Amino acid sequence: MCGISGIVSYKNVSKRLVKSLSNLEYRGYDSCGVAYLRNGQIEIRKDIGTISEVEARERLSDPVSCIGIAHTRWATHGGVTKANAHPHLSYHQNFVIIHNGIISNFRELREELSKQGYEFKSDTDSEIVAQLLEYHYEQTKDVEQALVDTIHRLEGSYAFATITPYDPERIYCTRHESPLLIGVGPDSQYIGSDLNAFIEYTKNLITLSDGEYAILDKDGYVIKNAMTGREAQREITHISWDAEISKKGGYPHFMLKEIHEEPQVVHTVMQLESEKIAKLAEMINEAKRVYLTGMGTAYYVTVIAQYYLAQLTGKFYNTLCADEFENVGEFDEDTLVIAVSQSGETYDTLSALRCAKNRGAKTAAVVNMLGSTMSHDVDHVIMQGSGSEICVLSTKAALAQVVALIRTGIELGSHFSPDQAEEFDQRRREILQTPQYIQQILDELSGIIRLIANKIYHITNWLFLGRGIYYAVSLEGALKLKEVTYHHAESMTGGFMKHGTISLIDSQMGSVFFVPPETEKKLHTDTMSNVEEIKARGGFVLGVHSGPFNPLFDQQIILPDAPPFIMPLLHIAASHLLAYFVAVKLRRNIDKPRSLAKSVTVP
Ligand code: AGP
Ligand code: GLU
Repeated sequence: MCGISGIVSYKNVSKRLVKSLSNLEYRGYDSCGVAYLRNGQIEIRKDIGTISEVEARERLSDPVSCIGIAHTRWATHGGVTKANAHPHLSYHQNFVIIHNGIISNFRELREELSKQGYEFKSDTDSEIVAQLLEYHYEQTKDVEQALVDTIHRLEGSYAFATITPYDPERIYCTRHESPLLIGVGPDSQYIGSDLNAFIEYTKNLITLSDGEYAILDKDGYVIKNAMTGREAQREITHISWDAEISKKGGYPHFMLKEIHEEPQVVHTVMQLESEKIAKLAEMINEAKRVYLTGMGTAYYVTVIAQYYLAQLTGKFYNTLCADEFENVGEFDEDTLVIAVSQSGETYDTLSALRCAKNRGAKTAAVVNMLGSTMSHDVDHVIMQGSGSEICVLSTKAALAQVVALIRTGIELGSHFSPDQAEEFDQRRREILQTPQYIQQILDELSGIIRLIANKIYHITNWLFLGRGIYYAVSLEGALKLKEVTYHHAESMTGGFMKHGTISLIDSQMGSVFFVPPETEKKLHTDTMSNVEEIKARGGFVLGVHSGPFNPLFDQQIILPDAPPFIMPLLHIAASHLLAYFVAVKLRRNIDKPRSLAKSVTVP
């Protein structure tokens, strides 16, 4: 949630800072702002609205300065107003901060400082950070000590950065349960909530760990532990992604661009080192209890994977939404928790992993973002290498995650049943064909899906239905439609629909059926019976299937006739295109739907 950026440099930073902020806008986008130090004074420019709107109004990038911090907000405390937008200034105007997260004890601290005469200008939890820095500086006359003292007072989750005329050539920053990276350049140092903040300027990154703070100047950085004061030595990670990957490349939206990258990301996952996959398979094999977890789409990835794993290994692996982990999860040292996360920063998923770790469980993760907290904190990580995913909706990253877990399933299955080696090789070959089938969907079906979207966009209530693994696919399809079109879509198994929900069916209610291929006889027949049941009650049905044409459906997307094993992946790709084209027709804010943020780093 929210994007943080900062640059200290030999040269003017303002243009780079605003560019960097635009690259982070997908993290939060209700308001934004910048703060510079110029001639010993803090200069703040901020307002509500998108970065381009605020840039046009407030000219964020006009000031010339060699040090600045910037923020794009996703409000948690206090409405979306100019006063609540970050950066926030301390009472005597000597410290300015940007903050990501929630300071949970801000009310007590605010009361305490109010009694000392401090006045507050915003309703945010964040402003307290600026006030505390100033308060502690007054006591110690030392900026670093003021930072450490402030850290010790704060509860909750935070990444924050500050600049101050008391030390005008340095950025001070820290983190606790919110992401913060450092970008190391030859003549500039950067901070960012994720690597998109600075990937255009440097490919050298360092991840700050919880409880550490960093002090950056134009020549370098120092990282220290806030408890011990000891300096921490960190290895620099070199990013191999091209900055180009974060650009739209001719597509009208990142979402469409990223859907078009699905063939490539599947191919990339198939090229990942076998040892990494084998290690995860080995961990699963050694564990007595396994949980797969994530949030939103990443959780649905685990449900899709659960079906694949069952098919490949004959075993049932638990899936559990990360936010419910502490409530019902059961862990000990024989438990393995596998998290799935595009950002590697999702609060709920990190909390589930922490909870598991604290109880002695082993942890692993499939993650996309390099340098993310999760990629560092788990016992074993598979970096899926799908490149930056800028659209708030996860498409290509999710598909790649499913494939990474299928590979793991194939590895496990081969281990359990060495006599079926030929069958597993066949599965591998089929996965390798997935990119070409998805490409075919993109090339040949985009037009048809768009036409269908233009006919169905007015339907505001949907059931997304499927059986077996197609039920899991329908979960993901429904979420995608919901988040980008703002239309209601509820997913359930075909069988479950009859036990209550069917009373909703009338001519206004739409249903999308993800129909298994005819070769999966029972699943197919049962699914088609559910279609009949809805048609008999006057419901509208869109069928996604692999043919032949079936007049029972009101509309249909006929997918290429691929091997049944990979058909669910084709259905996922089609559901992504469907959500996209309906949203285009409705003129939604596709890459940044209302109220969402790419990375949900608060509870
Ligand atoms: C996906 O389209 C959503 N925007 C959302 O559900 C997302 O998948 C979820 O917040 C988890 O994010 P993560 O993969 O970064 O952990
Ligand atoms: N809690 C802070 C606020 O509401 C920061 C939110 C964010 O992470 O964007 O301003």
